[in-house]
Amino acid sequence: MIMCEPTDSLSNSMSKTKNDPGWIGMTFDDFLMRPQLGKTESRQHISLNSRLTQTLDLELPIVSSNMDSVTGARMAEAMALTGGLGVIHRAQSIERQAQEVAEVKRSYSAVIEHPHCLPVGTTLAEAEQFAKRHKITGILIETKGGSGILAGLLSSRDIPWQGDHQQRRVEEFMTPLERLHTHKPDISIEDAEQILFDKRIERLPLVDSENRIHGLITSKDVRFIRERPFASKDTKGHLLVGAAIGARGDFIERTAALLEAGADCFFIDIAHGHSMVMQQAVEAVRSKFGAIPLACGNVATAEGAMFMKGLGVDAIKVGVGPGRGCRTRLETSAGVPQLQAIRETWSAVGESVPIIADGGVRYDKDIFLALICGASTVMLGSALSGTDEAPGRVIEDPATHTKKKIYRGMTSPEAVLESLYDVDDGEAITSALETPAEGQEIQVPYKGSVQNILHRIRGHLRSAVSYAGEASLNDARVKILPDPFEYLIPLSESSRRESYER
Ligand code: XMP
Repeated sequence: MIMCEPTDSLSNSMSKTKNDPGWIGMTFDDFLMRPQLGKTESRQHISLNSRLTQTLDLELPIVSSNMDSVTGARMAEAMALTGGLGVIHRAQSIERQAQEVAEVKRSYSAVIEHPHCLPVGTTLAEAEQFAKRHKITGILIETKGGSGILAGLLSSRDIPWQGDHQQRRVEEFMTPLERLHTHKPDISIEDAEQILFDKRIERLPLVDSENRIHGLITSKDVRFIRERPFASKDTKGHLLVGAAIGARGDFIERTAALLEAGADCFFIDIAHGHSMVMQQAVEAVRSKFGAIPLACGNVATAEGAMFMKGLGVDAIKVGVGPGRGCRTRLETSAGVPQLQAIRETWSAVGESVPIIADGGVRYDKDIFLALICGASTVMLGSALSGTDEAPGRVIEDPATHTKKKIYRGMTSPEAVLESLYDVDDGEAITSALETPAEGQEIQVPYKGSVQNILHRIRGHLRSAVSYAGEASLNDARVKILPDPFEYLIPLSESSRRESYER
């Protein structure tokens, strides 16, 4: 695939746009796109592929915010399944965050490399609890704890529904090795699929000549690979997941644990990314972990973007104060209107470092505007909150029976207090409590599954590409980025009313 590379016209526009008065003070509701001659017969085939970092692409250029009311394991899994990426928040202990990363990495893959096992001798009651805890329906049984030698397979179908069998042993019910279909570890997914179909089985354990367990292939995972060609996956077929690490305190220890858990991309996210704190953090992470994918921010100016580029980051997170849970602009006056920030940072670094536009999206059209003005991907917080996959409970108003969930800025007093539950370090607690809040908590309507929202965004982005007269997001960006004003119409108050008031 040919991605948008800096060309002469791009570099000209990069130097031109920073101080262009046309961009000053501008944000999403200030423009419409002039419709272009449509090229595609079907919008279904429009590719939205875009770069997340220097090395990772997404089929849906959407990233869920690393906020404790937006992204835990469940949201990250849903994001990757739909072609985006979830960034697991860090307002929790290192162990808990690493566990969430590991959960996403284990959730789907072509081959489960370290399947959950229990030893012969386990009771059915223990096996049932184990299956529930790990959300699995089949357990490999090994000859003894930690032996790694396959003795059999216990699936939910093997457990009798009637009678009290809770204290009986798994070996009485499992399919023993001699009756199991197994295979040597070096099998292609296509061959595994054929065996699963021919033998009408759900699971194929992979073992060597001494029956040592090397992996497990399940029909659920094989089906998933077929049904989700857009899912964001690593080279081994596991879902991609990002993780926030911060820039102070335990961030080196946290990075080590998250790397071990399998995180694919690390986010150093601080309110003021254009700072010495960021520089020290990036240098420390690079010297300890080398070239791991690092997305850093937040910045909102050309100088901030150049600073990030100089640090050698793999993606720049752009946005100071546009977020729905943010009070930064109200409390400090610091900030840059979000579309101006996206354009200004892109004008500084072009396509040399991908830009993640972070915050301020209220409508799907805002995502498209961000992408054609400079962003490669867009981070969403409130737009994805209120969903089943976002952490937190659904609250029902007893009077109106309307359902809601909580969405909160990560520096809101509520988020800060909760993040300190797991922390032992007295100095960190005092410093966090003494820092005035720049975030707030709000209630948002309950919206059901995030899958529906992502499906809608995909559809609207494809339509927008079609109105832009192109067959892919990349082509639309290549055409529009050198001079967006050729394609954008600034709005007057009355045209804004005509466009958005309904
Ligand atoms: P949206 O508009 O998508 O924004 O809800 C999500 C982004 O908001 C940022 N964020 C904060 N900004 N104070 C801030 O100034 C906060 O407490 C805060 N919490 C989150 C963050 O960049 C997120 O992705």
